[in-house]
Amino acid sequence: MACFFRSRIAAKLGRTLQQSEDAFIPALSAIPVFKKQQTADFKLSISTLRISGILPSSGDIQLQTEDLATRLKQDSVVEDISAGCGVINFKVNRKLLVQKMLEPFGKEEDVKFGLTSELFNTLKRGTTLVEYSSPNIAKKFHAGHLRSTIIGNFIANLKQSLGNNVIRMNYLGDWGMQFGLLGAGFGQFGCQEKLKQNPLQHLFEVYVQVNKEAEHNEDMKQAARDFFRQLEQHESEAVSLWQQFREITVDEYQHIYKRLGVHFDIYSGESFHQDQAQEVVQQLQSQGLLKTSEKGTGVVDLSPAGDMSSVCTVLRSDGTTLYITRDLAAAIDRKAKYHFDEMIYVTDKSQENHFHQLFHILLAMGHSWADRCKHVPFGLVRGMKTRSGEVVFLEDVLDEARARMLHNMSQSKTTKEMDNTEDTAEKVGISALIVQDFKGPLLSDYTFDWDRMLQAQGDTGVFLQYTHARLCSLIRRNESAKAAIFDPSLLFDKTSITILQHLLRYDEVLYQSAQDLQPKHLVNFLLKLCHLIASAHRELPVKGSSQVVAQARLRLFSGACSVLANGMRILGITPVDKM
Ligand code: ARG
Repeated sequence: MACFFRSRIAAKLGRTLQQSEDAFIPALSAIPVFKKQQTADFKLSISTLRISGILPSSGDIQLQTEDLATRLKQDSVVEDISAGCGVINFKVNRKLLVQKMLEPFGKEEDVKFGLTSELFNTLKRGTTLVEYSSPNIAKKFHAGHLRSTIIGNFIANLKQSLGNNVIRMNYLGDWGMQFGLLGAGFGQFGCQEKLKQNPLQHLFEVYVQVNKEAEHNEDMKQAARDFFRQLEQHESEAVSLWQQFREITVDEYQHIYKRLGVHFDIYSGESFHQDQAQEVVQQLQSQGLLKTSEKGTGVVDLSPAGDMSSVCTVLRSDGTTLYITRDLAAAIDRKAKYHFDEMIYVTDKSQENHFHQLFHILLAMGHSWADRCKHVPFGLVRGMKTRSGEVVFLEDVLDEARARMLHNMSQSKTTKEMDNTEDTAEKVGISALIVQDFKGPLLSDYTFDWDRMLQAQGDTGVFLQYTHARLCSLIRRNESAKAAIFDPSLLFDKTSITILQHLLRYDEVLYQSAQDLQPKHLVNFLLKLCHLIASAHRELPVKGSSQVVAQARLRLFSGACSVLANGMRILGITPVDKM
């Protein structure tokens, strides 16, 4: 495994420089295969060693590099050591490379390839609470909610794979004036029958109608205010209608999230914290943090100079709380309930300031754990439309992805006879959505493009799925050639070694993604892997090869397939076996 070589090289460095071997782990990396066809597998960055104080930071770096390279001796694992420009290159023994990398894939059980690397030792383990998706009841599920859903799911999967205890939370917009309107309007525009048949659609319709009505109808406005007041005062009739809206919405969402391969441990929401929000206001008051603005609202002064030049409103002049007040209460409540070690919020970048203020106030209140809360912001998506128009519901996007993929599959000559074509089309369509979204930095805006994302060739989710399905079919067809042992020397060709060199990077790529919570490292790693596999299919035929060669190649393909599937799952993609 990758970690075997990394720790052997680190140990060698540790002995030579009389330091603990752990100190060298961050300076060692597997060399990316796209940088020419290289013979070396790992490189050591001398400047990293200078920065960390292991080597003196004065003096000529190149002399230092060459000097260290000559002091390091080859052995049975590392067969060549050479100085490059500010780096030392290490080539590991070919037989060991093949053996160590592919041995785990001969076993029947699930392989944790790359997931137990010593690289992860420095990452904080513990409980991670990830809050994502968080749509608003009766309102549109927009592209931002879709992005939050898939990004949050990725972060939760990644943290879980690396050994964290993960709590997945959905924080619904289930409180606020919209429920006053909805409650007041439901009597006039709502229908229990329709609510049961298509809850999301019907609540949205009622909400749109009520809003229109309230524009010119004062009575409606008043009725909405009254209804919301009844809710805030926990009056049972109002509460039970609200509860019905909420339950029915959560049920429906659970269904649709399942299609997307997403689930939550907890459906929380703003409504949970309305009373606690008032308590937070009292705490702020007793800590001397609550000020009254000229407008009569309750604010917290966030200005460095304490001159009220930057404030955050936490209380309206009528005494009701706001979005941020509920978030303060929610954060404090979650810490007490779930004892998280870190908490991650995933929303679009327009809420960056909101979370900045949230963490700031929590710290001011003495909650030092707010330092371990993080907001992961993402950019806007332009032009997310379906054939029938604007996207209003998550289901619309999923249906469209499936329909388009079904169409493409029916046109393709390579589509296999399948019993579950619809299901496959759905999974492949969703992987296309995810890969399109994850390819670039999360903060970038992008334009949604069905045709481009669904291309079978090129860097798409369809290409990942196609590669996986093709590998599965190769392995299925050659079940009889599968063997417990294989001869490593039959995989010393350039194509095989390049794939293994690429796989050496898997733990580093996961580490990078865990550091900055960006999926692009993993997506691009997997896309590159698929390109390498495509060449391997051409250059390393299994059919027609002697039995021993077929066995060795199958082992290579099984290893690649397993890493591909594992990486896809972390991204939130369900790999298909046939397509
Ligand atoms: N429901 C909110 C929206 O749709 C997102 C909630 C984000 N999470 C939070 N803790 N504020 O914009």
